[in-house]
Amino acid sequence: MKAAILGTGSWASSFGRHLAHKWERVVLWGIDENQVNSINRTGTNPDFLGNIKLPPNLRATLDLDDCLKNAEILFIVVPSQAVRSVMQKVTASKVFPSGAPIVNMAKGFEVSTLKRISEVIGEELVSSGQQEQHPVGVLLGPSHAEEVALEQPTAVVLSGCGTADWSHWQTWIAGPFFRVYTNDDTPGVEIASGFKNIIALAVGMADGLGAGDNTRGTLMTRGMLELSRLGMALGGQSETFFGLAGIGDMITTCISQHSRNRNFGEDVTKDGRSPQEILEGAVQVVEGVHMAKAALKLSEKLDVELPITKQVHDVLFSNKPPRQAMRELMERDLRPELD
Ligand SMILES: NC(=O)c1ccc[n+]([C@@H]2O[C@H](COP(=O)([O-])OP(=O)(O)OC[C@H]3O[C@@H](n4cnc5c(N)ncnc54)[C@H](O)[C@@H]3O)[C@@H](O)[C@H]2O)c1
Repeated sequence: MKAAILGTGSWASSFGRHLAHKWERVVLWGIDENQVNSINRTGTNPDFLGNIKLPPNLRATLDLDDCLKNAEILFIVVPSQAVRSVMQKVTASKVFPSGAPIVNMAKGFEVSTLKRISEVIGEELVSSGQQEQHPVGVLLGPSHAEEVALEQPTAVVLSGCGTADWSHWQTWIAGPFFRVYTNDDTPGVEIASGFKNIIALAVGMADGLGAGDNTRGTLMTRGMLELSRLGMALGGQSETFFGLAGIGDMITTCISQHSRNRNFGEDVTKDGRSPQEILEGAVQVVEGVHMAKAALKLSEKLDVELPITKQVHDVLFSNKPPRQAMRELMERDLRPELD
């Protein structure tokens, strides 16, 4: 059994490490020569996972065909804005076996089209006439790479459509410390996973301003309401937002020291630089920044009110001071809770 993974960053390496305990061969494809060499020569990926050891049946390559050849399943673990270009390379490959499912693990939307990432993958399959050959799924949920690499018990959600037997893949992806649930609501799972990063940015900003647990709890709860409003308008099911990909990932991301979105929000309040300057210096992708842009455009298009998202967006892109954003949220017209 061979699994192909696109990406050599923190989540690709950590998830690949997990899969390699069960699969004969796991091959990561990357564009960063240092990361690829380090994985192959030292069995570590120090940029992202410190000195945690990667098993010998996990290797990395710069050659996409080498990664895709004979793969039974493909996991895409690159930043969401890079998925379309990566998929164009995948569909151009002559060696990727027909029938192999493609599973998105990126959390976000494509900002330029406002599409979910599995929709982007589907579109690229259609443009290349390969839509019948590859079922598309998503694997998302509360799963910090750093903790999965340390084999901390983790649970995620697998959701997909097409001809794949997803319960078969559920068994092949699960492990003793990595529990996999299935869920038929692919839009809901994907929307929830992307959206929670915006609320993590808001919680980070609140933390940076010295706010306490009352504020954190309020932002997460009201954030869940925003998520369910937008998610249902986009075709997701409300139950999904109260599952692992929804409230599960929201809590994990908002309270975690590992969350780069929460940490980025905090940095925005403390660093003298603008959010864009901090972003330029970031080593790892901060998906919530792109998602804030996409969600605000969606809220305008679908006429769905997202007050926290709007404030996060304005801090990130209109230089609004975070303290003013917090004040404006508190001074909104008073209203019933479940309006
Ligand atoms: N880190 C986590 O704990 C975690 C958990 C679940 C989901 N995710 C999601 O997985 C995705 C990747 O996150 P990550 O934490 O591994 O990010 P990362 O920044 O650690 O790594 C990103 C990887 O993508 C590669 N990459 C960047 N641009 C590329 C391009 N144009 N073409 C090909 N490769 C490119 C980089 O070289 C790197 O290997 C994100 O959408 C993130 O939200 C991350």
